[in-house]
Amino acid sequence: MVVSSTKLLLSICVLILVSSCCQGQGRVDPSFRIRAVNLGGWLVTEGWIKPSLFDGIVNKDFLDGTALQFKSVTTGKYLCSEQGGGSIIVANRPAASGWETFRLWRINETAFNFRVFDKQFIGLSTSGNGIDAVAISKAPGNSETFQILRNAGDRNRVRIKAPNGYYLQAKTEEQVTADSPGNKGWGDDDPSVFVMTVAGRLQGEFQVTNGYGPEKAPQVMREHWNTFIVEKDFEFISKSKLNAVRIPVGWWIGSGPIPPPPFVGGSLDSLDNAFLWAEKYGLKVIIDLHAAPGSQNGWEHSGSRDSSQEWGKTDENINQTVTVIEFLASRYAKSPSLYAVELINEPLSPGATLSTMIKYYKAGYAAVRRHSSTAFVVMSNRLGPMEPRELFPMASELHGSVIDLHYYNLFEEKFNNLNVQQNIDFVYNNRSSDLNHVTTSNGPLTFVGEWVAEWQVNGATKEDYQRFAKAQLEVYGRASFGWAYWTLRNVNNHWSLDWMIRNGYIKL
Ligand SMILES: *[C@@H]1O[C@H](CO)[C@@H](O)[C@H](O)[C@H]1NC(C)=O
Ligand SMILES: *[C@@H]1O[C@H](CO)[C@@H](O)[C@H](O)[C@H]1NC(C)=O
Ligand SMILES: *[C@@H]1O[C@H](CO)[C@@H](O)[C@H](O)[C@H]1NC(C)=O
Repeated sequence: MVVSSTKLLLSICVLILVSSCCQGQGRVDPSFRIRAVNLGGWLVTEGWIKPSLFDGIVNKDFLDGTALQFKSVTTGKYLCSEQGGGSIIVANRPAASGWETFRLWRINETAFNFRVFDKQFIGLSTSGNGIDAVAISKAPGNSETFQILRNAGDRNRVRIKAPNGYYLQAKTEEQVTADSPGNKGWGDDDPSVFVMTVAGRLQGEFQVTNGYGPEKAPQVMREHWNTFIVEKDFEFISKSKLNAVRIPVGWWIGSGPIPPPPFVGGSLDSLDNAFLWAEKYGLKVIIDLHAAPGSQNGWEHSGSRDSSQEWGKTDENINQTVTVIEFLASRYAKSPSLYAVELINEPLSPGATLSTMIKYYKAGYAAVRRHSSTAFVVMSNRLGPMEPRELFPMASELHGSVIDLHYYNLFEEKFNNLNVQQNIDFVYNNRSSDLNHVTTSNGPLTFVGEWVAEWQVNGATKEDYQRFAKAQLEVYGRASFGWAYWTLRNVNNHWSLDWMIRNGYIKL
């Protein structure tokens, strides 16, 4: 092929123009879209992505946030915190739900606090006989610390040892006391025996670090950070026609080498490496604050201890979060790979109110802008009850703002009975119109920051998955900022873009 030198010169000029436009804002080239993969489960732990990370924890059934229910073998009823908390513990409920569920706080492998529905902790009454089980204390101490002893034969038959050295017993349906010597075997006639049900588990960063404890956690986490995602992955990503990574981080990344326990330092070194590798392989980076202080949704991937959602309840907490954003923006503003900072992931309504979000997003945006005039600022739409354009009045005024939307054909009842074709039609019709509704010429850009080629369909073929992935690539490709697959690596194959690409399920 003969190329004239003028033509060559021209194309070089165009190339320079195109590449300089795409640093930072990228607005000059409106056809540019992010095609990213999330690096989930790396700097913010999610047990289902890599269960083996928890293998070395002693007594790993009892981690922070494990939800337990106890049925008395003598009353045949469940333990319950009367009124949900602030009162006595009873053993008279025929079925178990909120008030009958106790969330663990793990002190060490053998010592636990039990948190009730209204967030008090079980202890022994300090007035009267001193042995009635009550849920009054708002801050657990020695007098709220219990042990759980499991029957060697049937591990779900347990005794609960109280801080006074005696065992809890359901003396009557209305009276639960800590005064059993617990020495009568494991039969149905001993009121200190309970049948335990695990009603829920969390396997996030709080659980893994507190589970290993301060001696072991720093080594275990560093080993995970150094091996789960490595330089070769960035090379693979860039060769796979992707152009960016979205990297979830936790708020403790801004706390130096010794963050508040049980979190451990060191994830910042990995983020530094990620930027070096991104620069080397020409990838852009979206930093995503996935876990905000206090937890913005109560889920394990936001660093929650026990499913409670405390983020945004005070100005101090919002300020603390802004400080983390400012730290990240200032550290990476000079990197040519910094493309966007996402202020928070998946805040959950109604706990995270719209007015809180607006207050935080304005402050977070300003913090990014103090260090970078070009980085995009990504704001997640709330999950739960919300209005898809609720952030528009604020975001439309902020240059370079982006709305993040997560589209999964999962987690909602309406997907349970959809077949292959119905799932694909849902993408082409319903998702497409949802996305159109928020993709406007004068509003913020739109980003499908999480999606996956997985569904509730059983026994789907490889071809089914290919069609499902293709439909999503086509529709989400119309988002004005771009999209990001969840996630690069996962023991569940369809959730691993690495596996999906290598095995021919997804072609970019
Ligand atoms: C666990 O904590 C309890 C209560 O603080 C303490 O008495 C016990 O010695 C600790 N056990 C271990 C193995 O550290
Ligand atoms: C939070 O930050 C704002 C803005 O800097 C400041 O006016 C306010 O006093 C801070 N509030 C708290 C509780 O720290
Ligand atoms: C998709 O949209 C159609 C048309 O609005 C609606 O009838 C249908 O219920 C939607 N599907 C689901 C699964 O929500």
